Amino acid sequence: MKRIAHISDLHFGTEDPGVAAGLLEDLATYSPHLVCVSGDLTQRARRSQFLAARRYLDRIAAPTLIVPGNHDVPLYNILSRFARPFTGYRQTISSDLSPFFQDEEIAVAGVNTARSNTWKEGRISLAQMELLRCQFEGAAPQSFKILVCHHPFIPPDHDMQASLVGRAREALKMLETCGCGLILSGHLHQAYSGDVRTHHLEVTRSIVVAQAGTAISHRRRDEPNAYNQLVIDGDTLVLLVRAWDGRRFATVRESRYHHCDGGWVVES
Ligand SMILES: [Fe+2]
Ligand SMILES: [Fe+2]
Repeated sequence: MKRIAHISDLHFGTEDPGVAAGLLEDLATYSPHLVCVSGDLTQRARRSQFLAARRYLDRIAAPTLIVPGNHDVPLYNILSRFARPFTGYRQTISSDLSPFFQDEEIAVAGVNTARSNTWKEGRISLAQMELLRCQFEGAAPQSFKILVCHHPFIPPDHDMQASLVGRAREALKMLETCGCGLILSGHLHQAYSGDVRTHHLEVTRSIVVAQAGTAISHRRRDEPNAYNQLVIDGDTLVLLVRAWDGRRFATVRESRYHHCDGGWVVES
């Protein structure tokens, strides 16, 4: 059994200090085996914002697996944006833009989908796909395989035109071959989840997508601050959305997925 916390879009520079403190408390209570951070750690990729994010992440006791988001690439400093887009991130958050975590039960790969040229949109390159393939194929065959990236693979129900990660189709083809079972993403600041096959009809493997809201930023989109708690236990995947109620984080939604007949079935 593994407990994973999925936090996203912290946007240091626009963080709410009370919510940020509340999240650390809730994470300490949950005591996850791994914390996945799916990008947008800063608001404007400023050094002070990266340092604040670093100090915050250092207060999380669990191991972390972190990928950047589009806000972690400089927007207005054109020289930095194109010549050294990830220098601030590498110097403060992590020098590894393709992080990988594995133990006897899970294999978790992070991919950097942020780009300089299409600042807001994201993409997966062919080289990144090949690395992901190697990472997952090198993991223990029975391990539960998880991808972490910033940009979404499926849109929310109310906005089917939402921009998805570039090359999603090709990436999903690779992910289903490698036996990936779960994708964790952010970017839209909205918490929702579903089976990737509901949007990508060509995909035959059932892969659950969990999108996280913004964990601690006041850049909310008609939703409270929230993050995801996941429990992976054999053929069962439980996803709790923990949202800020003004005083603390509490569960506002629970989805239970059971894996049977080759696919994830929602139990409730
Ligand atoms: Fe964001
Ligand atoms: Fe973003």
